[in-house]
Amino acid sequence: MTVASIPGKAILFGEHAVVYGRPAIAVPVWEVAARVEVLDNPGAAPGSLLVEAPAIDLAGELAALDPSHPLPRIILDTLHALGVEQPPPLRLRVTSTIPIASGLGSGAAVSVAVARALSQHLGCPLEPSRESALAFAVERIHHGTPSGVDNTVVAFGMPVYFRRDDPPVPFRVGAPLHLVIGDTGIALLTSIAVGGVRERWRDKPAAYERRFDAIGAIVDEAHGQIESGRIAALGPLMNRNHVLLQEIGVSSPVLDALVRAATEAGAWGAKLSGAGIGGTMLALAPKERMDAVRAALTRAGAVRTITTQVGE
Ligand code: MEV
Repeated sequence: MTVASIPGKAILFGEHAVVYGRPAIAVPVWEVAARVEVLDNPGAAPGSLLVEAPAIDLAGELAALDPSHPLPRIILDTLHALGVEQPPPLRLRVTSTIPIASGLGSGAAVSVAVARALSQHLGCPLEPSRESALAFAVERIHHGTPSGVDNTVVAFGMPVYFRRDDPPVPFRVGAPLHLVIGDTGIALLTSIAVGGVRERWRDKPAAYERRFDAIGAIVDEAHGQIESGRIAALGPLMNRNHVLLQEIGVSSPVLDALVRAATEAGAWGAKLSGAGIGGTMLALAPKERMDAVRAALTRAGAVRTITTQVGE
C-alpha cells in the first residue's frame, strides 16, 4: 500500500491580489490533511481502478465515474502524465480532515495527494512541481481563474512566496510563527468570491489595481520580516491586509468579528485568510496568548479553531 498525506494551507498575505499577478505568502497547515491510499487489488480485471471517497459519497469504478468530477479527473490526468494507459488493478481511497470550502485548500490537497500516492505506487514519483501542475489543471476547471497558490503550497509542504507565472519560492522562516485559525463554518465556493472581485474590478479598475498594489507591497515587506524572524512586526501588516480585503468586498460581519476578537485577546494581528465572505480567518499571536486567542474566537462564534506552528 502507498499512502500520501498532504497538509491544508493558509494564506498569510496576498489572497485575491495574487489572482491579478501580485505576490502572496502561504503556509502549510499540518494539523489537517488529505490522505490517499493506493492498494493493489489482485483478482480484479486488468485496468480496474476502484475509487472510494466516503466523505463525498463517491464510490465506483473509475471508468464509470463522471470524468469532469475533480477526483476522477485528477486520477485520469495523473495516469496520462505517467503515460500509463492500463494500470494494474488498484483501489484508491480518499479521506480528509480538511474542512471542505473553508479556505484551507481541501480540493488542492486531495488532488496533490492523489497525484503523489498514485505516481509513487506505480513506481514513477513526480516532482512537487509536476504534482502541483496536475492539481492546478483540476483547480482551473472548478475554480474559474485560480492563481495556483493553493496547489503550490500544499505540494511543496513549505512556506512559499508565490507569484503567478513565476517559479514558486519555498522559504524558511527566521523564527517560528504561532497561528490560530478560526473557521466561520460558512462554506463558500472560491469561484464565487473571486468572481465577485472580478466584477467590481471591471467596474472600477483603477481603484482595485491600487489596492492590489498596496497588498503586493505588504506581501513583500512581510516576506522580509518572516525570513529575518521579526514576527511581531507582521501583526500590523496583517491588520492592514485585512482592511484592504474589506475594501475589495470579501470580508463579512462574521469574519470582522473574529478578527476583532483575536486582536482584543492579544494577537499581534489578524485577517481573513483565503477567499473570504465565509471560510476562515487567521491570527498571529505570541505563543503564551494562543489559548486566550483560541478561546476568544470560540466565544465570538468560530465553529472550529486550529492552532499551528510554522517553522521548527
Ligand atoms: C484562495 O485560497 C485564494 C484566492 O486568492 C484565489 C486564488 O489565489 O486562486 C482567493
